[in-house]
Amino acid sequence: EQKISIAIDGPAAAGKSTVAKIIAEHYSYIYIDTGAMYRALTYKALQENIDLKDEEKVADVLSTIIIELQPSEDGQIVLVNEDNVTEIIRSNEVTNNVSIVAMHPKVRDEMLKRQRLLAKTGGVVMDGRDIGTHVLPNAELKIFLRATVEERAKRRHEENQKKGYISDFEQLKLEIANRDKLDSEREVAPLRKAEDAIEIDTTALSIHDVVKKIEDYIEERL
Ligand code: C5P
Repeated sequence: EQKISIAIDGPAAAGKSTVAKIIAEHYSYIYIDTGAMYRALTYKALQENIDLKDEEKVADVLSTIIIELQPSEDGQIVLVNEDNVTEIIRSNEVTNNVSIVAMHPKVRDEMLKRQRLLAKTGGVVMDGRDIGTHVLPNAELKIFLRATVEERAKRRHEENQKKGYISDFEQLKLEIANRDKLDSEREVAPLRKAEDAIEIDTTALSIHDVVKKIEDYIEERL
C-alpha cells in the first residue's frame, strides 16, 4: 500500500494540529508537529536566559538539544533531552517569543534537516508554516488552512476557557495577528501558501468538515 506525505500549513491557531492528528491517526501515519520543535527550542533558550535575537547563541542551544515527538493517547508528547516539555511549550511566554527564534536562518536550516529526517519514511502528516514550500516540496498533498483572525482567536479563547486558563479574547487576537505578521514577513521560509497547495478556509467549517475534505483529497492520491 502506498504511503504519501501530507503537508499542512497555515497561520497561527488555524486548527492545523487538530486536523493533522486526526488524519495521522486514521491512516496510521506519523504526525510531526514542527511548531512544537520551534517551541521546544524557544523554551530551552528562555531557560538559559540568552538573547533570543542572537542567532549564534540560539543556534548553539539547538545544537545541544535532542527534540523528540512521541505519539500518545491525546496527541503527542514532546521531549527535550528526555524532559517532558509538552505543556510548558504552550505557555504564553513561549508562544509570544517563538517567532523571534524561528526567524534565524541557522535555526531554520537545522530544523529543516531534522524535519526531513523524520519524514523520510513517508506516511507522514507534517504541520507548520513552510512545509509545503520548503521542508517537503514534493509532498503528494499540500493543504493550506485559513480562517479569519476573529475566528481563530475565538477558538483559542474557548479552548483556554475549557482548560480553566485565564484568557483575554482581544489580547489573543493581537497576539495571533502579531505572530502571523512576524512569520509572514521574515526573510527565510516565511509563512506562505505553496503554489500547488489546496487552500481551505475553515472559518465556517467544523473540525469534522475540514478532516473530511482533506481525507477526500488523500483518497484521490492513494
Ligand atoms: O504551529 P505553532 O503555532 O505551534 O508554531 C509556533 C511557531 O513556530 C510559529 O508561530 C512560527 O514562528 C514557528 N514555526 C515556523 N515554521 C514551522 C512551524 C512553526 O517558523 N514550520
